[in-house]
Amino acid sequence: DKGNHRHFMAKEIHEQPEVVGHVLGHYVDPAKQLLKLPEMPFDLAAIPRITIVACGTAYYAGVVAKYWFEQVARVPVDVDVASEFRYRECAMTPGGLALFISQSGETADTLAALRYCRSQDQHIASIVNVTESTIARESDHIFPTLAGPEIGVASTKAFVCQLMVLAVLAIATARARGAIDADEEQRLAAELTAMPRHLSDALHLGPLIEKLAQDELTDATDVLYLGRGASFPLALEGALKLKEISYIHAEGYPAGELKHGPIALIDDTLPVIVIAPWDRLFEKTVSNMQEVMARGGRIILLSDRKGISIAGDEATAVVELPDVDPFTAPILYAVPLQLVAYFTAVHKGTDVDQPRNLAKSVTVE
Ligand code: F6R
Repeated sequence: DKGNHRHFMAKEIHEQPEVVGHVLGHYVDPAKQLLKLPEMPFDLAAIPRITIVACGTAYYAGVVAKYWFEQVARVPVDVDVASEFRYRECAMTPGGLALFISQSGETADTLAALRYCRSQDQHIASIVNVTESTIARESDHIFPTLAGPEIGVASTKAFVCQLMVLAVLAIATARARGAIDADEEQRLAAELTAMPRHLSDALHLGPLIEKLAQDELTDATDVLYLGRGASFPLALEGALKLKEISYIHAEGYPAGELKHGPIALIDDTLPVIVIAPWDRLFEKTVSNMQEVMARGGRIILLSDRKGISIAGDEATAVVELPDVDPFTAPILYAVPLQLVAYFTAVHKGTDVDQPRNLAKSVTVE
């Protein structure tokens, strides 16, 4: 049932404040504003390394998590797509944590990667939406994403819930390893607790993004997405979402890589979506943005009040997101990227919920 929405994808995008509330209910103690995680069959303080493996959108959630685990918990993290990882014969430190992310829990390559890690003396944990799935059954421990059934082939609410769970896990790992104290845990937990409200505010940008998609993107043949730090995997995710439902070619790049090749593509027909919450890397991203402008490129800047007051004049269009801590920004910025892809596809008239050639669950390699 799509409720009063035209597509399952729209319904699932709008469900995000609610399902993120479910994640918080499961993983955060509202009275103490501290995390509550069930007993795990491994010690987060003792694991020498985390290996994250997944496919597609779930992989991009893993790339965001790499930034979080490394910055907040100071633990080394490898992240790889399952189809590469499973055949790579990767050398692994025994006793490491292998973490699999999968909405369906049935993705063939992710499952094969899990079985390889089992043979390499890893603790096996998975972040799954379907808790009765094969990946869930073969794990030592599961972290449910509690997004509810996702019908749209393009993942939206499952991605945001994966990010929420990964953020919780990064904070818990940081606490276990003494990398942060209880005050900092409380502060970060409070930032997560505020997410349903911020996500609702971001959803109000729908009409503005619809117009922007129509004016700037519907006729584009290629779109470039740029970001730095944890906004880089968001650039990858934004590009994937646009490709799969609107069939417009799109690429995500780390903003600093621009001058190492993709800048050759810039002309006045190429929209460039810049994901730049105001943070310690903001000025760096703005200078990449200026390199695009200087070559006639059209910039769509996703930022917050401060970022837009500094750099908004230089952009062709701006989308102002609520002010959030840089730690939680990737969760929030997923929403405008989903809306950009959704409205572009709606205007192009493609099949939003069932894009050509794609299946919701990829159970063959
Ligand atoms: C993109 C998308 C896919 C899946 C990928 C992994 O919107 O939905 O890229 O993320 O096929 O699927 P799961 O998470 O079921 O393992």
